[in-house]
Amino acid sequence: MTTLGLDLVQEIHELKKQRNAVILAHNYQVKEIQEVADFVGDSLGLSIQAAKTEAEVIAFCGVHFMAETAKILNPNKKVILPDLNAGCSLADACPAEALEAFLRQNADKHYYVVAYINCSAGVKALSDLICTSGNAVRLVQKIPADRNILFVPDQNLGQWVIEKTGRQMELWKGSCYVHMEFTRQGIHKIREEHPGAPVIAHPECTTAVRLLADEVCSTEKMISYCKAHSAKAFIIVTESGMLHRLRRELPDRTFIPGPTDTCACADCRYMKLNTLEKLRDALFNLEPEIVLPEAVRARAELPIRRMLEWSE
Ligand code: 13P
Ligand code: SF4
Repeated sequence: MTTLGLDLVQEIHELKKQRNAVILAHNYQVKEIQEVADFVGDSLGLSIQAAKTEAEVIAFCGVHFMAETAKILNPNKKVILPDLNAGCSLADACPAEALEAFLRQNADKHYYVVAYINCSAGVKALSDLICTSGNAVRLVQKIPADRNILFVPDQNLGQWVIEKTGRQMELWKGSCYVHMEFTRQGIHKIREEHPGAPVIAHPECTTAVRLLADEVCSTEKMISYCKAHSAKAFIIVTESGMLHRLRRELPDRTFIPGPTDTCACADCRYMKLNTLEKLRDALFNLEPEIVLPEAVRARAELPIRRMLEWSE
């Protein structure tokens, strides 16, 4: 705890200056964190920001794999994450040891491994290319046609990429527990309640849900899609934090949360572990810090740099 005697937000701004820090926040962070951040965006936007920041400290308000990506790109900077327990069910679905064993057992297939950025540094280190939901389709189209692709860890995003590109890929059977909660019945029901409102879904949703959507895209693309659309109301089928970002950017529109079977809107329990208090403490203590073995970091940097290069 700190006792600078200032209001929490002021304290964060003060500490940020003292530490020469930048605050990067994902679109799923709570409203208060989005408000205090220097940049709010999707995984691709955050990686680009992390790659070009000149700050000495990166305070990453997101989940562990996102902060790890920032560290991989910035070995000489301090990267802090307000709560180290902010994990991800997708990253957990593909442990590096399991992927390594699979690749060994299938060495004859000479897989080209495409890893969705929602994975650990260990998995990135075993991969040829990293992608995000915002660039996966574009990047997979660039892979030479004679390569066997293994896509990890999200089977739903992978399936969507197959549909969009026509490219066959072997899919790892991971999924995001939040996006798996949206169902066909739920989407039908909310559409009936809000006739005319376009349904926008994240590609981590199941095929059954995606097929009912008017648009399937990354969280950042949701903003540009809604900006360009003439509708006054939209149904947003992704994590709840996105609603704040959309309402802030487009105050004259209405955003309706896609319902899950268990609640009116979907919270990622990992994303919601970060709080303003924890951010303030992390800036004060300069921890929890992301630390990686150099060999893993250096190997993991290659497919991330390839992604950034191919995304230009
Ligand atoms: P975006 O890159 O689209 O923001 O998605 C990240 C994520 O974790 C989705 O669950
Ligand atoms: Fe991971 Fe899903 Fe949470 Fe995104 S919403 S961080 S994919 S568990």
